[in-house]
Amino acid sequence: MSLEDPLSGIPANVWKRFPLKLVEGVPLMEPIADNWAQVASFEALPDDLLIATYPKAGTTWMQEIVDLIATDGDLLKSRRAPTHLRCPFLEICSPARVLSGVEQLSKATSPRMIKTHLPIQLIPKSFWEQGCKLIYVARNAKDNAVSYYHFHRMNKTQPDPGLWEEFIVSFMEGKVAWGSWYDHVKGFWEQRKKHRILYVFFEDMKEDPKREILKVMQFMGKDLSDEKIKIITQNTSFQVMKDNPMANYSSFPPAILDHSISPFMRKGVVGDWKTHFTVAESEAFEADYRRKMGQCSLRFRLHI
Ligand code: A3P
Repeated sequence: MSLEDPLSGIPANVWKRFPLKLVEGVPLMEPIADNWAQVASFEALPDDLLIATYPKAGTTWMQEIVDLIATDGDLLKSRRAPTHLRCPFLEICSPARVLSGVEQLSKATSPRMIKTHLPIQLIPKSFWEQGCKLIYVARNAKDNAVSYYHFHRMNKTQPDPGLWEEFIVSFMEGKVAWGSWYDHVKGFWEQRKKHRILYVFFEDMKEDPKREILKVMQFMGKDLSDEKIKIITQNTSFQVMKDNPMANYSSFPPAILDHSISPFMRKGVVGDWKTHFTVAESEAFEADYRRKMGQCSLRFRLHI
């Protein structure tokens, strides 16, 4: 099967809402957990760049920014393939005849750009041993939960989210794929000074995309002209990415991602939580948040 078209010829009936299975206490989708040995023994290379996020924190946005910086703002090059082929998803694995993330990466040319949702304690050791750079994107818990809820509805390989009021409880308890949002954002925050980690916030990217793109560019060791930075900023806007078939996940069949239920590029805003949380849900969420995050110096913005 070619890397250019990994989904062709895949029978629709292999896709289902996979149950979650624990790996070192973290719930992951069953095919990922069953393939865990391959992920744990992944051999990183020194020039690998890892983009790590809790799901729905702005992964695809950062992938697009990093790829455009790496290609010096060359739009033709950045549109050579869909996101998941340009920047393979380290731990992804399915029972179908689709290459796993690790298999894709073994065929990728360096420098490799890699996506992961793994919490810090599950990142394969070789990334730290090789001193790889890592960009972490974090998003406020309420908007992150809303986005994850809609993603569960449209992603037919994730567990059924149930009703919003049910999902929000699962989210608070960390009983969702890739586990606790709270532990995830804290884990990378606490380790950011020990490793080469750039910690970026979705809200900051929304507020001033150019400023955050410059930070990423400097972290990557690149020095692009103002003109190129302008091109990158324009082409990583929500609307341009929503219309870009190489960045909007429209290449996936509806048996996996059903955009008619909720588009992958849904709203891309800060504060959509206000249209989902009732006052009572918001109060309960915040009380629970204070218990889990009270000791941590991390501060998120719920509005910009
Ligand atoms: P919403 O569901 O709130 O719209 P991920 O890539 O980690 O799965 O995150 C997806 C979320 O990031 C979605 O949030 C999506 O709309 C948003 N997003 C993706 N690209 C964006 C961009 N260029 N600007 C703003 N938001 C973006």
